[in-house]
Amino acid sequence: MSHIRPRRLRSSAAMRRIVRETRVSVDDLIYPVFVTHGSGLREEIESMPGCFRFSVDELVDEATKVRDMGIPGLLLFGLPMHKDECGSEAYADDGIVQNAVRAIKSRVDDLLVITDVCLCEYTSHGHCGIVRGDKVDNDSTLELLAKAAVSHAAAGADIVAPSDMMDFRVAAIRDALDTSGHLDTVIMSYSAKYASGFYGPFRCAADCAPQHGDRSSYQMDPANGREALREVALDIDEGADIVMVKPALAYLDIIRSVREITDLPVAAYNVSGEYAMVKAASANGWIDEQRVVTEILTAIKRAGADIILTYHAKDAVKWLR
Ligand code: PBG
Repeated sequence: MSHIRPRRLRSSAAMRRIVRETRVSVDDLIYPVFVTHGSGLREEIESMPGCFRFSVDELVDEATKVRDMGIPGLLLFGLPMHKDECGSEAYADDGIVQNAVRAIKSRVDDLLVITDVCLCEYTSHGHCGIVRGDKVDNDSTLELLAKAAVSHAAAGADIVAPSDMMDFRVAAIRDALDTSGHLDTVIMSYSAKYASGFYGPFRCAADCAPQHGDRSSYQMDPANGREALREVALDIDEGADIVMVKPALAYLDIIRSVREITDLPVAAYNVSGEYAMVKAASANGWIDEQRVVTEILTAIKRAGADIILTYHAKDAVKWLR
């Protein structure tokens, strides 16, 4: 019989602590939030219990709380007043996100403000780019994404996060940021973003479901792993500072392979559907929310993520040790 007994190292809580390989820290977390026009608003999102759409004034309070909890940053998604064919509010100087960034930056110190750069929340058709005929046109979308990124940077965003999946958008955004003097604005690219059913609750929250067709001509096929590495390599070449894999849980293998091909920070997005499943099951008493959330975040980190974007961030801070 072998003299090796792995259970020795699991014999007490203190023993387990000294051999633990992966620790999730508050420093790893980014909290995504939704901002809407109006004032005094804090509307709970039905499909994402515990998450809210905030008006700018309320968002400043929320940002202060998030900062006080030690969470390093917020990711902002905007709900415009009006939608149109070309998503004008996405790049308007007084758009909802631009106003929110200025308000947070003028009142809350020591908090990174990250903005989602995409058109889908702002377009009447709900696609992430300009629609021509029945196609989403790549090259005419680039200019608008670049304008959105520059307007976010001008408002004070620390990091812009393009989530549209158009080809060459990182290069277009980097170029536009640099020529407008925003040399220090970081690009966190949604490099490997899959066409996923796990975005369902977000599309209700941000009212951005495509009105016709789906996003599979620009977001990645969930069946493809090698293609993710190609997307990541291209984004790195184009100047991305941080690369992201999204969603996280069904794509832990992709997070691991991306970790292995780059020394850049790797982010993973624990998306709305992943959050909603945990919330629904725990509301029914079927799972222990604290345990499951801790296990999920640990798994994402163990797979190789340095940064985790998660709607669980505020709860997780209380649970992580
Ligand atoms: C917009 C965008 C989406 C998400 C982040 N940015 C929705 C989509 O691509 O349909 C999803 C986030 C989530 O589900 O939590 N392009």
